[in-house]
Amino acid sequence: MELDQILKKAKREKWAIGQFSFSTIEQLKGIIGAAKKLSAPVILGTSEKESKFLGLEETIAQVRILENKMGLKLFLHLDHGKDLNYIKRAVDLGFDSVHFDGSELPFKENLKLTKEIVNYGHKKDVLVEGELGYLRGESRLFQRKKITIKKEDLTKPEQAQEFVEKTKIDLLAPAIGNVHGIYPEMPELDFERLKEINQKTDAFLVLHGGSGLSRDEIKKAIKSGIQKININTELRLVWRESLQKILKTSKEIKPYIILPQVSQAIEKKAEEYIKLFGS
Ligand code: 13P
Repeated sequence: MELDQILKKAKREKWAIGQFSFSTIEQLKGIIGAAKKLSAPVILGTSEKESKFLGLEETIAQVRILENKMGLKLFLHLDHGKDLNYIKRAVDLGFDSVHFDGSELPFKENLKLTKEIVNYGHKKDVLVEGELGYLRGESRLFQRKKITIKKEDLTKPEQAQEFVEKTKIDLLAPAIGNVHGIYPEMPELDFERLKEINQKTDAFLVLHGGSGLSRDEIKKAIKSGIQKININTELRLVWRESLQKILKTSKEIKPYIILPQVSQAIEKKAEEYIKLFGS
């Protein structure tokens, strides 16, 4: 099944597909391991910075090889693309979907550039995600930082409607109080706003900043119209903590002995999310 079919099914049946971020092979193997174990669809997300580590060509080649080998359909997504040329390269290479993040731009400029990517992507059957509203934070664990959401940062439902209609994006990432990263106190999600955006647009809705949210919030977000949930920080933490533990507790130096254990830990975390999302 292609990605838009899966998203349609998720919308109809009220569940969400997980987008799990990676920049290394052991992370990739962990996420794919979870998908295989649970026979679940997953989106492999990689941002501009993340994909530059392996290289864009190497990333897609690796994903397609693993896809063949494991007998799984895997979806590769460029997350938070800001450089139009880089996004177009991902389209040309055969990514399944790309995200143009023009959320920092004035509305009209965001609309114009998002449309340009939609035109480019749709010619090659690549789904395009657009973003509207100001999503704060960064994918890391903040021990003390207080994060405050301003009402003017949140996506306005009327503007979301205009944005989706004019750009023809397939997916919309709204700002509904969600943030990237984990904070001592996570801001509350504005579910009423999410429901209104869902009523006013026919794009699939994406919840960025899935890390740090409670199980109840995630379930409520899915009920209120979310079909894709992005997880990065939680997997980065598992990557670091599992690696740290292995290095601290053994003198092992063989990467091929150490890294599969990291993959295992990531697999376990991704599995928890897949089950929670109902995918
Ligand atoms: P978190 O790091 O908060 O999980 O957010 C990830 C994300 O939204 C990637 O686009």
